[in-house]
Amino acid sequence: MAEWVAVCRLDEIKEGRGVSREAAGLRLAIFREAGGGVVALSGRCPHANGPLGLGWIEEGEVVCPLHRWRFRLSDGRCTTVRGNSVHRFRAEVRGEEVWVQV
Ligand code: FES
Repeated sequence: MAEWVAVCRLDEIKEGRGVSREAAGLRLAIFREAGGGVVALSGRCPHANGPLGLGWIEEGEVVCPLHRWRFRLSDGRCTTVRGNSVHRFRAEVRGEEVWVQV
């Protein structure tokens, strides 16, 4: 059964960047978009397990810091090599905290 958990404070994430967090045994990558919206993706890049949370946002996509594969923020789909999407979790800001449904 999916549950909502607090994963970090919003001010821990710079706009356009991400952080890595563990929750419910999962590694998550939490990103902050311009304007303050947040997106939570699986934190393991499907290419070679790179730390997606250390990546950054470019034109609506997350760029993996290791080999620059790109994933759409809107649905986690990989636009570099088809068929290598990451899971997108529901995420929202509550007060000063970021909550993710895991
Ligand atoms: S590990 Fe992410 S692109 Fe290679």
